[in-house]
Amino acid sequence: MSATIFTYRLRPPVGLEKTLMKELKSLNLVNSKPRKLTGRKIIEVQGPEESLWKMMHKSRIAEDIQVRMTQPFRARGEKELEQNLEKLPWHCYLPNPQQQQEHMFKMPQTRAKTHSSKLYHTQLIRDILIKSMTEIQIKRDFKISLLKGMNGKGPQNMPYKQFKKQWLEKKERKEQDDIDRRVKEKIQESDDEEENTIDIDGHTIESTQIESEGKGRRKIKTLDEIKAELKSKIEFKKNLKTISRIQINIVKDRGEILVGTSYEDLHKHGYKPFVRWGVLKETLTAACILESNIIAKANHTGKLYLWDPFCGSGSFLIETLMMILEQPVRNFDGNLPFQYWPVHQREQYEKFKEELNDYQKMVKKDQIDIQIIGSDVSQKAIETSIKNCDHSDIEKLIQRGLVAPRLRGFINNPMIFSSHWPKYSYDENGEAATSVLMDFKQTDRNQLLSLYQGDFQSIGSQLASLTENFQDFTILTNVPYGEQSKEKQRHTDTDLQNIYRRFGKFIRNYPSLEKNTFVLAQSHHYGHKLSFEKFSNCGWSKELNFSNGGLSVHLLKFDMSQVSEVKQTLQAYKEIAAM
Ligand SMILES: C[S@@+](CC[C@H](N)C(=O)[O-])C[C@H]1O[C@@H](n2cnc3c(N)ncnc32)[C@H](O)[C@@H]1O
Repeated sequence: MSATIFTYRLRPPVGLEKTLMKELKSLNLVNSKPRKLTGRKIIEVQGPEESLWKMMHKSRIAEDIQVRMTQPFRARGEKELEQNLEKLPWHCYLPNPQQQQEHMFKMPQTRAKTHSSKLYHTQLIRDILIKSMTEIQIKRDFKISLLKGMNGKGPQNMPYKQFKKQWLEKKERKEQDDIDRRVKEKIQESDDEEENTIDIDGHTIESTQIESEGKGRRKIKTLDEIKAELKSKIEFKKNLKTISRIQINIVKDRGEILVGTSYEDLHKHGYKPFVRWGVLKETLTAACILESNIIAKANHTGKLYLWDPFCGSGSFLIETLMMILEQPVRNFDGNLPFQYWPVHQREQYEKFKEELNDYQKMVKKDQIDIQIIGSDVSQKAIETSIKNCDHSDIEKLIQRGLVAPRLRGFINNPMIFSSHWPKYSYDENGEAATSVLMDFKQTDRNQLLSLYQGDFQSIGSQLASLTENFQDFTILTNVPYGEQSKEKQRHTDTDLQNIYRRFGKFIRNYPSLEKNTFVLAQSHHYGHKLSFEKFSNCGWSKELNFSNGGLSVHLLKFDMSQVSEVKQTLQAYKEIAAM
């Protein structure tokens, strides 16, 4: 384990700080504490580099992870900021001379934020930061050259200004040399091809023409040379390695530097590349699953029974399966920026990733009875869910014995388009057949995840008879709401009210669904024309409140004991109105 202890700053989705804390606790990252900074709540975690790997590949809720470089420092003016930036441990995060020899690096992206401070111009702050980061590298090389000079191994010392000029020129030359080398390679490749050239007015001329025009004329590049040069420049830029983004915050004249650990926000877990309208971000999906306690309940009872009647792209279904199996998130094949930090422990990280992907070492849940069902009125939604199930390699998890599908009844209705996991139909090469014809004479089937296309009510009433009226089941769903639902499905307000009304009526029929039904709906006040709570006519307790693509939503738990509270509130409203 590394001796260096870092301070990590995690960004939860807005409103989900407590849920992220809960998740970190379950990952044994207990030394975490929430903090409120410039209007946004963040969570700080202290730990070695291993903690970062764990959060990066196991936290399903964190949306960004940064490292805070040192304690905040004074920055009451440009000079003070410059001086204090110089004292920071950049050598831990910016490529060292040996790395610079191996690769060429881009200057890191920078961002500046300022609040209640004398330095209020963010562009000026960024300029100082960039200058400081460049100078750090030059000064480091200058020191090395001084040492070499003192040991008699290098040239005589020169003043810093001259050294800096030469350093920058050398860097520029190195870049140009690299581009020229590529151009030469490209030209050689196309040597055999016919050479067309263009003159300065853009007309195509024969190469022999240039030769005969003699000296005194500007050298005209061949078309191939121009093309090769452009391509090389693009390639050169593409090959530059990208290092961590650097953010500077100045709050009340105190500065702090934050170093990014990923190139993009972390809300993608890698299981769901196919999306439809209304899709929930993976971080939000995971938060709802965690708060609905499906996983804890399954680990305790040995049963994971879930139905999402408005499943869309299958977010809740796939993420639940991955969560129970503690499957890693963001299994990046490429590099992450922290892998270029000179302090990064490369070998240990590779070992950590290897273990994470080793099926032998993965969590096995073959003792848990898993029955995950998704349904949606839209056939396109079901097809998207199928593609996502295929992409997330569910069949591999079954083949490796991490989960076990069991024989059980399925909806055997020709009017309902259905697809099951795993697909037990193989072609002559032993490959799973892409399209599986349903055998409607069959009454049961080896399954773990099923998808049906149809209205929730017609699917639900058939599921009820197959599941002893939803015994031990949890419903977790994201009902239609918002402008997208109106646009994409032409839902009028009355349609939505009817869906909510029918849904409420449906779940009230099944006592086992009480306290086991979780609905994500748009938050409106109770009297609103699209209030899910009002039209469903059930009691609901609010479990979570957060923002989904700019809409304020809440996760509600079906709880009839809340009804009296609502009635009392309504009575109170009426009494106030009558006063
Ligand atoms: C908000 S989206 C669900 C998004 C999903 N959680 C995801 O992440 O992809 C609502 C879904 O409800 C479906 N829907 C609308 N009316 C329905 C009905 N009467 N029965 C079943 N599904 C319905 C829509 O086709 C849509 O896919």
